[in-house]
Order: sequence, then structure tokens, then C-alpha cells
Amino acid sequence: MKQQLIDNYERVHTNLRISVTDVCNFRCIYCMPEDMEFMPDSALMTYDEILRFTRIFVRLGVNKIRITGGEPLVRPSLPHLIEQLGQIDALKDISLTTNGIGLITQAQALYDAGLRRINVSLDTLNEEKFEQMTRRKVLSRVLKGLKAAHDCGFNPIKVNAVAMRGFTDDEIVDLATFARQNSYQLRFIEFMPLDADDIWGRNMFIPGKEIIDKISNVYPLERMHLNGDAKSDTAQRYRFADNGTELGVIPSVSEPFCESCNRIRLTADGKFRTCLFSITETDLLTPLRDGADDETIEELIIDAVAKKEAGHKINAADFIKPERNMSRIGG
Ligand code: 5AD
Ligand code: SF4
Repeated sequence: MKQQLIDNYERVHTNLRISVTDVCNFRCIYCMPEDMEFMPDSALMTYDEILRFTRIFVRLGVNKIRITGGEPLVRPSLPHLIEQLGQIDALKDISLTTNGIGLITQAQALYDAGLRRINVSLDTLNEEKFEQMTRRKVLSRVLKGLKAAHDCGFNPIKVNAVAMRGFTDDEIVDLATFARQNSYQLRFIEFMPLDADDIWGRNMFIPGKEIIDKISNVYPLERMHLNGDAKSDTAQRYRFADNGTELGVIPSVSEPFCESCNRIRLTADGKFRTCLFSITETDLLTPLRDGADDETIEELIIDAVAKKEAGHKINAADFIKPERNMSRIGG
């Protein structure tokens, strides 16, 4: 039988998220401080190293990859990487998470490189709130980027909004209206304790259920019942009953979905993580640079997956926040 990445809880890991840089041109308050320090270039995996790791992961059963950052579009020649990833047989799905600003200039090149699916982070449609949230005054450029992606033919386009108490509450329905009008799939993500500034608190996220209740008061929603691959989707998915556009909530804090998790992560500096909230990680890049063969790297990955944690402990008394914030893990 084909080698698979199975852990102690019988979860099969087919979904790999690769961060290509920790650098970002935004400074979202739920992620990083204004004076964030970034890794030196020499610490980042080269594209050749990323491709070699990806081939190894694919041999171990990974068939789905998401490119993340930081902001992945600040890394030069990203379309080139996408194109090369697309040539790996058995990789059936490649997608990208971006803050959207680079799409004005890069959407077409990404599409031409074979990318079809993107997630764009957009937390608000209000210019002042956008500036408070990202510390950048560029909402109109993100909206233009979204439109550029839409015009190129990207499908689906997902819009991620981090739901923060006191900030997102009065815009939940407006964001839903914006998404359904443009056929974007909106996903509200509960704010998680992965910020560098320690602003997270139990009163700081909006539970997914509350979000769905608010939207369904205005637009009737149908719950989607999932099977197969979609079972390990982190989102609880719905459709607008009248126009069929999908939307969802990712209730990581209020209703953790760890037991069906099929995700693993590679940080931009080549550290392997089995959970967003892992407090240990496995260095794959140092051995690779020291000349390790593929089998040695495979063993490291298999051993790390075998030790994967049962789930995150955000709701437990002994929760320990990971040392890395979101941009250094890779979303
Ligand atoms: N909690 C929830 N989501 C977060 N993101 C970044 N930081 C956090 C956090 N603390 C989101 C971004 C982006 C995705 C990669 O992760 O908005 O959509
Ligand atoms: Fe950049 Fe994304 Fe972090 Fe915002 S959440 S600062 S866009 S990496």
C-alpha cells in the first residue's frame, strides 16, 4: 500500500501548507506588530528546496497544497514556483492565500502559471477600519486586486475575514452582502491566539454560530452536508438559499475540528509543524542542506506526524501559546 502520513488518532494527512516567506507588506493587528522583525533571506527555503520537499510530501500521500506567507506575493517570481509545483503528478490541488494587494499586478501571471484557486484576506469594507486592522491605507487596492483575480477567471475566490469582537460585529451582514453580490465565498475565521502582540482574549473572538445567526436573519442559509474530502474542511459551510453562493465559518476556538484535521505545515525556514498550535517543530531544512537523502527526510516527517498532538488546547487551562505568530507559521 502507498505510504501515508497517519498519526496515532488515525488521521491521514494529505493537506500541506507551505509558507514561502514570513515577510508581509501589511501589519494586521491580530498577527504582527508594526516593527516586526523578519527572517534573513538565507534562512528561507529556496524554490528548489520547496520543490524537493513537496515531492517528498507527495510521495507520502499529500495531494493538496496551499501556498501562504507572510504575504506570498512579496516573494519574487512566485508564478514560477506555482508552475513547477503544477508539474508534480498526483498534486491535484494548489491554492494560495494572499492579502490581495499583489493581485493587481500578479493575478494574470499566477493564472497563466496554472493557479485557479485563491483566498484573499479582507476583514472590512470600511476604509478607516481597514487601516486600523492592517495599519495600511490600501483597501481600494485590495478591492482592485480581488476584481483583477475575478476578471482573470479564478474560481473559487474565497474571502477570509477574521472575526474580532468589537470590530467585525456590525459588518458581518455587509461582508455577506458584498460576497454574495460578487460570487466570492466568504469565510469568517474566529480570531485565534496567534497574534504577536498578545491582544487575544476569550472575549475577543466572535463565535461562528453567532455569525451564522446574524447572517441568516437577513439571508436564509442552507447548511451543506459534507462527505469525502470535504469532511476535513475546517469550515462549516452554508449556501445562500436564494442564490447558491457558498459561505462558511471557521470556528477554531468555539467548536474545534481537530479530530478531523488532515493538515500539516512547512514554515518558510523549513520547519515542519503538525499543528498551528504546536509548541515543538521538526527542522527539515538543516538536514536537507547538510546533504540528507530523501529517505532520511521522509523518516523525519513520518516520525513527527506519528507524534502529532490530539488537538489544540486553546480552551484548556494548560494552553501554551506557540512562540511563532501567524505570519511565521503560515496561516
Ligand atoms: N486568528 C485568526 N486568523 C488569523 N489570520 C492571521 N492571524 C490570525 C489570527 N490570530 C488569518 C489571516 C489570513 C489567514 C492566513 O490567517 O487573516 O486570512
Ligand atoms: Fe500580513 Fe497576513 Fe499577517 Fe496580515 S495576517 S500582517 S496580511 S501575514
